[in-house]
Amino acid sequence: MAGAGISTPSGIPDFRSPGSGLYSNLQQYDIPYPEAIFELMYFFANPKPFFTLAKELYPGNYRPNYAHYFLRLLHDKGLLLRLYTQNIDGLERAAGIPPDRLVEAHGTFATATCTVCRRKFPGEDFRGDVMADKVPHCRACTGVVKPDIVFFGEELPQRFFLHLTDFPMADLLFVIGTSLEVEPFASLAGAVRSSVPRVLINRDLVGPFAWRQRHNDVAQLGDVVGGVETLVELLDWKEEMETLMQKEKEKLDAKDS
Ligand code: OAD
Repeated sequence: MAGAGISTPSGIPDFRSPGSGLYSNLQQYDIPYPEAIFELMYFFANPKPFFTLAKELYPGNYRPNYAHYFLRLLHDKGLLLRLYTQNIDGLERAAGIPPDRLVEAHGTFATATCTVCRRKFPGEDFRGDVMADKVPHCRACTGVVKPDIVFFGEELPQRFFLHLTDFPMADLLFVIGTSLEVEPFASLAGAVRSSVPRVLINRDLVGPFAWRQRHNDVAQLGDVVGGVETLVELLDWKEEMETLMQKEKEKLDAKDS
């Protein structure tokens, strides 16, 4: 399970960290209260603030970091049953984790839907509009097109229900870089069998790690990258990580140029 804390080392602010989090830096978005940026009622009245954030987070602006590539390595080794992420920055995909291994619980910019006729589009179709600070409109009916990001009160994607079969099958759960404050995602932490070790890698104790610890819970507190590096060293995967990151860096450099 992952959250915004795995992307702060890539330069993307999280939501709730006091001072640096998005919710304490909303002057640029001109919204009345933080959650308005993900509220449908507000979006229909004024979609501009959301698209200002969308412009920032649209795939291509940021690169995956050590934490993302650790998850990719787990996949390469056939150890990743599934990655449940709350992040909408697309960095898990950018790190090479195939979409079928991912549950993007709060949606993605990879696809978008017309808010009027419900037509589906690839997110790429609207990159130009979003980058030019234009609210994208449907080619068929002219309705406002909204990237498939899950707003408060909206249903989570169908894939989220994979948790019903995934979590009982897991034999280790990593919880990385999330405050575990948003439901129903947060409750997944309690869905693994009680014999399954849960490993939190985060700046602070969160959710059940703070208030309903199990005897086999492990918390590696501090910086996410530092925590993952410690784990990689213990696993003796340091060289593999370096090779993977170098290879991926070269690919991204080639793409950029
Ligand atoms: P939060 O901002 O609520 O929590 C991020 C967690 O990561 C906090 O516990 C931070 O202390 C920790 N953290 C941040 N940077 C870190 C670092 N470099 N090292 C270690 N820990 C670090 O983000 P989420 O839990 O992902 O909804 O937020 C959940 C949802 O709330 C988001 O998906 C978003 C928002 O409403 C949507 O985007 C729809």
